[in-house]
Amino acid sequence: MLKKDLRSLLDYSPDTIEQLLISAGTLKANRPHARTTVFKDKTGVLLFEKPSLRTRITFETAINELGGHAINLPAESVQMGKRESVSDVAKNLERWVHLLVVRTFSHATLTQLADACSIPIINALTDADHPCQALAFALTLRERFGEARDCPVAFVGDGNNVCHALMILAAKLGYDFTAACPPGYEPNPGILASCQAFSRKTGKRLAVVRDPAAAVRDAAVVYTDVWTSMGQEQETAQRKKIFAPFQVNAALMAQAPAAALVSHCLPAHRGEEITGDILDGERCIALDEAENRLHVQKAVIVHLFS
Ligand code: CP
Ligand code: NVA
Repeated sequence: MLKKDLRSLLDYSPDTIEQLLISAGTLKANRPHARTTVFKDKTGVLLFEKPSLRTRITFETAINELGGHAINLPAESVQMGKRESVSDVAKNLERWVHLLVVRTFSHATLTQLADACSIPIINALTDADHPCQALAFALTLRERFGEARDCPVAFVGDGNNVCHALMILAAKLGYDFTAACPPGYEPNPGILASCQAFSRKTGKRLAVVRDPAAAVRDAAVVYTDVWTSMGQEQETAQRKKIFAPFQVNAALMAQAPAAALVSHCLPAHRGEEITGDILDGERCIALDEAENRLHVQKAVIVHLFS
Protein backbone atom coordinates (compact mmCIF):
# COMPACT_ATOMS: atom_id res chain seq x y z
CA MET A 1 0.00 0.00 0.00
CA LEU A 2 1.27 3.47 -0.83
CA LYS A 3 2.08 5.50 2.26
CA LYS A 4 -0.10 8.53 2.89
CA ASP A 5 1.31 12.08 2.79
CA LEU A 6 -0.08 15.59 2.70
CA ARG A 7 2.02 17.23 -0.01
CA SER A 8 -0.80 19.24 -1.60
CA LEU A 9 -4.60 19.16 -1.53
CA LEU A 10 -4.29 18.59 -5.28
CA ASP A 11 -3.68 14.93 -4.31
CA TYR A 12 -6.81 14.72 -2.11
CA SER A 13 -10.34 13.98 -3.28
CA PRO A 14 -13.18 16.34 -2.31
CA ASP A 15 -14.59 13.51 -0.19
CA THR A 16 -11.32 13.07 1.74
CA ILE A 17 -11.14 16.83 2.35
CA GLU A 18 -14.75 16.83 3.62
CA GLN A 19 -13.97 13.91 5.94
CA LEU A 20 -10.91 15.76 7.28
CA LEU A 21 -13.06 18.80 8.06
CA ILE A 22 -15.68 16.68 9.85
CA SER A 23 -12.93 14.96 11.84
CA ALA A 24 -11.36 18.34 12.69
CA GLY A 25 -14.72 19.59 13.96
CA THR A 26 -15.05 16.53 16.21
CA LEU A 27 -11.50 16.86 17.50
CA LYS A 28 -12.16 20.53 18.22
CA ALA A 29 -15.37 19.76 20.12
CA ASN A 30 -13.65 17.07 22.21
CA ARG A 31 -10.39 18.88 22.86
CA PRO A 32 -8.08 17.82 24.39
CA HIS A 33 -9.45 14.25 24.40
CA ALA A 34 -8.82 12.94 20.91
CA ARG A 35 -10.54 9.56 21.41
CA THR A 36 -7.96 7.99 19.12
CA THR A 37 -4.65 6.36 19.89
CA VAL A 38 -3.30 6.23 16.33
CA PHE A 39 -0.42 8.59 17.16
CA LYS A 40 0.03 7.64 20.83
CA ASP A 41 3.73 7.17 21.74
CA LYS A 42 4.76 8.05 18.18
CA THR A 43 7.26 10.78 17.32
CA GLY A 44 6.94 13.59 14.80
CA VAL A 45 9.87 15.69 13.61
CA LEU A 46 9.34 19.34 12.70
CA LEU A 47 11.96 20.31 10.13
CA PHE A 48 11.50 23.96 9.10
CA GLU A 49 13.78 25.90 6.74
CA LYS A 50 11.80 29.12 7.38
CA PRO A 51 10.48 30.96 10.44
CA SER A 52 7.09 30.08 11.93
CA LEU A 53 4.83 30.89 14.85
CA ARG A 54 1.45 29.32 14.06
CA THR A 55 2.51 26.20 12.21
CA ARG A 56 5.19 25.20 14.67
CA ILE A 57 3.08 25.69 17.78
CA THR A 58 -0.06 24.11 16.37
CA PHE A 59 1.81 21.02 15.13
CA GLU A 60 3.62 20.60 18.46
CA THR A 61 0.37 20.99 20.36
CA ALA A 62 -1.48 18.65 18.00
CA ILE A 63 1.18 15.94 18.35
CA ASN A 64 1.27 16.32 22.14
CA GLU A 65 -2.51 16.17 22.46
CA LEU A 66 -2.61 13.02 20.32
CA GLY A 67 -0.29 11.38 22.84
CA GLY A 68 2.84 11.62 20.70
CA HIS A 69 6.13 13.47 20.97
CA ALA A 70 7.35 16.36 18.83
CA ILE A 71 11.00 17.10 18.08
CA ASN A 72 12.05 20.42 16.63
CA LEU A 73 14.96 19.77 14.30
CA PRO A 74 16.71 23.02 13.31
CA ALA A 75 17.12 23.02 9.51
CA GLU A 76 20.37 24.98 9.82
CA SER A 77 21.87 22.08 11.77
CA VAL A 78 20.74 19.48 9.22
CA GLN A 79 21.73 21.56 6.15
CA MET A 80 19.69 19.43 3.75
CA GLY A 81 21.42 19.20 0.39
CA LYS A 82 24.69 20.60 1.80
CA ARG A 83 25.84 18.50 4.76
CA GLU A 84 24.12 15.47 3.25
CA SER A 85 21.63 14.82 0.50
CA VAL A 86 17.92 15.37 1.00
CA SER A 87 17.25 11.66 0.44
CA ASP A 88 19.91 10.62 2.97
CA VAL A 89 18.26 12.88 5.57
CA ALA A 90 14.93 11.17 4.84
CA LYS A 91 16.40 7.66 4.98
CA ASN A 92 17.93 8.33 8.40
CA LEU A 93 14.88 10.01 9.92
CA GLU A 94 12.54 7.18 8.89
CA ARG A 95 14.61 4.76 11.01
CA TRP A 96 13.83 6.67 14.22
CA VAL A 97 10.58 8.58 13.95
CA HIS A 98 7.07 8.16 12.51
CA LEU A 99 6.15 11.49 10.91
CA LEU A 100 7.88 14.43 9.19
CA VAL A 101 6.33 17.90 9.23
CA VAL A 102 8.35 19.96 6.80
CA ARG A 103 8.57 23.63 5.78
CA THR A 104 10.92 24.21 2.86
CA PHE A 105 11.76 26.90 0.36
CA SER A 106 11.58 24.71 -2.74
CA HIS A 107 8.55 22.44 -3.15
CA ALA A 108 10.95 20.01 -4.86
CA THR A 109 12.80 19.52 -1.53
CA LEU A 110 9.55 18.41 0.10
CA THR A 111 8.82 16.05 -2.80
CA GLN A 112 12.35 14.58 -2.65
CA LEU A 113 12.01 13.97 1.09
CA ALA A 114 8.59 12.40 0.66
CA ASP A 115 9.71 10.19 -2.24
CA ALA A 116 12.79 9.01 -0.33
CA CYS A 117 11.17 7.96 2.92
CA SER A 118 8.58 5.41 3.92
CA ILE A 119 6.96 7.50 6.68
CA PRO A 120 4.20 10.08 6.15
CA ILE A 121 5.20 13.67 5.43
CA ILE A 122 3.10 16.81 5.88
CA ASN A 123 3.66 20.00 3.90
CA ALA A 124 3.93 22.77 6.51
CA LEU A 125 4.45 25.36 3.70
CA THR A 126 6.65 25.46 0.63
CA ASP A 127 7.16 28.23 -1.91
CA ALA A 128 4.32 26.64 -3.91
CA ASP A 129 1.69 25.53 -1.42
CA HIS A 130 0.32 25.69 2.12
CA PRO A 131 -2.35 22.99 2.39
CA CYS A 132 -2.77 23.14 6.19
CA GLN A 133 -3.65 26.84 5.93
CA ALA A 134 -6.29 26.07 3.31
CA LEU A 135 -7.80 23.34 5.50
CA ALA A 136 -8.02 25.77 8.43
CA PHE A 137 -9.73 28.29 6.14
CA ALA A 138 -12.17 25.59 5.02
CA LEU A 139 -13.03 24.64 8.60
CA THR A 140 -13.62 28.32 9.39
CA LEU A 141 -15.89 28.67 6.33
CA ARG A 142 -17.75 25.54 7.39
CA GLU A 143 -18.31 27.00 10.86
CA ARG A 144 -19.67 30.22 9.32
CA PHE A 145 -21.62 28.92 6.34
CA GLY A 146 -22.20 25.22 7.07
CA GLU A 147 -22.17 23.08 3.95
CA ALA A 148 -23.34 25.93 1.70
CA ARG A 149 -21.11 26.55 -1.28
CA ASP A 150 -22.60 29.90 -2.33
CA CYS A 151 -19.86 31.88 -0.60
CA PRO A 152 -17.43 33.21 -3.22
CA VAL A 153 -13.83 33.68 -2.13
CA ALA A 154 -11.75 36.63 -3.40
CA PHE A 155 -7.98 36.58 -2.96
CA VAL A 156 -6.31 39.98 -3.38
CA GLY A 157 -2.54 40.24 -3.79
CA ASP A 158 0.32 37.94 -4.74
CA GLY A 159 -0.45 34.68 -6.57
CA ASN A 160 1.72 32.90 -4.01
CA ASN A 161 1.73 29.68 -1.98
CA VAL A 162 -1.30 30.71 0.09
CA CYS A 163 -3.20 31.83 -3.02
CA HIS A 164 -2.42 28.45 -4.62
CA ALA A 165 -3.57 26.53 -1.54
CA LEU A 166 -6.87 28.44 -1.31
CA MET A 167 -7.46 28.14 -5.06
CA ILE A 168 -6.92 24.36 -4.92
CA LEU A 169 -9.27 24.08 -1.94
CA ALA A 170 -11.95 26.18 -3.64
CA ALA A 171 -11.69 24.17 -6.86
CA LYS A 172 -11.92 20.86 -5.01
CA LEU A 173 -14.77 21.80 -2.68
CA GLY A 174 -16.74 23.86 -5.19
CA TYR A 175 -16.40 27.48 -4.09
CA ASP A 176 -16.24 30.33 -6.60
CA PHE A 177 -12.72 31.76 -6.45
CA THR A 178 -11.36 34.97 -7.94
CA ALA A 179 -7.78 36.14 -7.52
CA ALA A 180 -6.85 39.77 -8.21
CA CYS A 181 -3.12 39.96 -8.92
CA PRO A 182 -0.83 42.46 -10.66
CA PRO A 183 0.72 41.41 -14.00
CA GLY A 184 3.62 39.04 -13.43
CA TYR A 185 2.36 37.96 -10.00
CA GLU A 186 -0.46 35.64 -11.05
CA PRO A 187 -0.77 32.07 -9.74
CA ASN A 188 1.48 29.41 -11.27
CA PRO A 189 -0.02 28.46 -14.70
CA GLY A 190 0.29 24.70 -14.07
CA ILE A 191 -1.50 24.87 -10.70
CA LEU A 192 -4.11 27.19 -12.23
CA ALA A 193 -4.76 24.75 -15.08
CA SER A 194 -5.21 21.84 -12.62
CA CYS A 195 -7.66 23.91 -10.59
CA GLN A 196 -9.57 25.01 -13.69
CA ALA A 197 -10.10 21.36 -14.58
CA PHE A 198 -11.72 20.77 -11.16
CA SER A 199 -13.79 23.96 -11.30
CA ARG A 200 -15.15 22.97 -14.71
CA LYS A 201 -16.43 19.75 -13.10
CA THR A 202 -18.22 21.61 -10.30
CA GLY A 203 -19.40 24.40 -12.62
CA LYS A 204 -17.87 27.00 -10.31
CA ARG A 205 -16.02 30.18 -11.28
CA LEU A 206 -12.23 30.29 -11.10
CA ALA A 207 -10.85 33.56 -12.42
CA VAL A 208 -7.68 35.65 -12.24
CA VAL A 209 -8.32 39.36 -12.73
CA ARG A 210 -6.39 42.61 -12.43
CA ASP A 211 -8.94 44.73 -10.58
CA PRO A 212 -9.31 44.10 -6.82
CA ALA A 213 -12.70 45.86 -6.78
CA ALA A 214 -14.03 43.48 -9.46
CA ALA A 215 -12.73 40.48 -7.50
CA VAL A 216 -14.46 41.43 -4.23
CA ARG A 217 -17.79 42.56 -5.75
CA ASP A 218 -19.73 39.40 -4.81
CA ALA A 219 -17.28 37.98 -2.26
CA ALA A 220 -18.38 36.30 0.95
CA VAL A 221 -14.75 36.35 2.10
CA VAL A 222 -11.90 38.63 1.01
CA TYR A 223 -8.49 37.04 1.66
CA THR A 224 -5.04 38.54 1.49
CA ASP A 225 -1.45 37.63 2.35
CA VAL A 226 1.90 39.40 2.57
CA TRP A 227 3.27 40.97 -0.61
CA THR A 228 6.76 39.62 0.10
CA SER A 229 6.91 35.96 1.10
CA MET A 230 9.73 34.37 3.06
CA GLY A 231 12.75 34.10 0.79
CA GLN A 232 11.79 37.12 -1.40
CA GLU A 233 13.05 39.81 1.00
CA GLN A 234 15.38 41.35 -1.60
CA GLU A 235 12.28 42.27 -3.68
CA THR A 236 10.48 44.06 -0.83
CA ALA A 237 10.85 47.65 -2.07
CA GLN A 238 9.76 46.82 -5.62
CA ARG A 239 6.84 44.74 -4.40
CA LYS A 240 5.59 47.53 -2.11
CA LYS A 241 5.20 49.75 -5.18
CA ILE A 242 3.63 47.12 -7.42
CA PHE A 243 1.14 45.85 -4.84
CA ALA A 244 0.07 49.24 -3.40
CA PRO A 245 -3.25 49.24 -5.36
CA PHE A 246 -3.97 45.76 -3.94
CA GLN A 247 -4.22 46.77 -0.28
CA VAL A 248 -7.26 45.40 1.57
CA ASN A 249 -8.60 48.54 3.25
CA ALA A 250 -11.91 50.23 4.02
CA ALA A 251 -12.20 51.59 0.47
CA LEU A 252 -11.82 48.12 -1.05
CA MET A 253 -14.18 46.53 1.50
CA ALA A 254 -16.76 49.19 0.57
CA GLN A 255 -16.82 47.56 -2.89
CA ALA A 256 -17.65 44.17 -1.35
CA PRO A 257 -21.04 43.03 0.02
CA ALA A 258 -21.73 44.54 3.46
CA ALA A 259 -21.57 41.10 5.11
CA ALA A 260 -18.27 40.12 3.50
CA LEU A 261 -15.71 38.66 5.90
CA VAL A 262 -11.96 39.16 5.71
CA SER A 263 -9.14 36.73 6.34
CA HIS A 264 -5.37 36.53 6.29
CA CYS A 265 -3.07 33.56 6.93
CA LEU A 266 -0.86 35.72 9.21
CA PRO A 267 1.70 37.06 9.89
CA ALA A 268 0.24 40.33 8.60
CA HIS A 269 2.05 43.54 7.73
CA ARG A 270 -0.36 46.24 8.88
CA GLY A 271 -0.40 49.17 6.50
CA GLU A 272 0.89 47.06 3.61
CA GLU A 273 -1.40 44.31 2.30
CA ILE A 274 -4.07 45.06 4.93
CA THR A 275 -4.84 48.03 7.12
CA GLY A 276 -5.01 47.66 10.90
CA ASP A 277 -8.67 48.70 11.08
CA ILE A 278 -9.69 45.87 8.75
CA LEU A 279 -7.43 43.27 10.38
CA ASP A 280 -8.75 44.17 13.83
CA GLY A 281 -12.33 44.71 12.67
CA GLU A 282 -15.31 42.52 13.50
CA ARG A 283 -15.48 41.11 9.97
CA CYS A 284 -12.01 39.60 10.26
CA ILE A 285 -11.83 35.83 10.86
CA ALA A 286 -8.03 35.48 10.67
CA LEU A 287 -7.64 34.44 14.32
CA ASP A 288 -10.49 31.92 14.08
CA GLU A 289 -8.63 30.46 11.12
CA ALA A 290 -5.32 30.48 13.04
CA GLU A 291 -7.04 28.64 15.91
CA ASN A 292 -8.39 26.07 13.48
CA ARG A 293 -4.88 25.21 12.29
CA LEU A 294 -4.58 23.07 15.45
CA HIS A 295 -7.74 21.09 14.80
CA VAL A 296 -7.26 20.45 11.08
CA GLN A 297 -3.65 19.40 11.58
CA LYS A 298 -4.73 16.93 14.26
CA ALA A 299 -7.25 15.58 11.77
CA VAL A 300 -4.54 15.28 9.11
CA ILE A 301 -2.27 13.30 11.48
CA VAL A 302 -5.15 11.00 12.44
CA HIS A 303 -5.97 10.51 8.74
CA LEU A 304 -2.35 9.66 7.86
CA PHE A 305 -2.12 7.07 10.63
CA SER A 306 -5.56 5.47 10.28
N1 CP B 1 0.16 31.11 8.69
C1 CP B 1 1.32 30.49 9.03
O1 CP B 1 1.69 29.46 8.48
O2 CP B 1 1.99 31.11 10.04
P1 CP B 1 3.49 30.80 10.48
O3 CP B 1 4.38 31.16 9.33
O4 CP B 1 3.72 31.64 11.69
O5 CP B 1 3.60 29.34 10.78
N1 NVA C 1 3.13 33.71 1.68
C1 NVA C 1 3.71 33.73 3.00
C2 NVA C 1 2.89 32.90 3.92
C3 NVA C 1 3.35 32.83 5.35
C4 NVA C 1 2.52 31.95 6.22
C5 NVA C 1 5.15 33.23 2.95
O1 NVA C 1 5.40 32.23 2.26
O2 NVA C 1 6.01 33.84 3.57
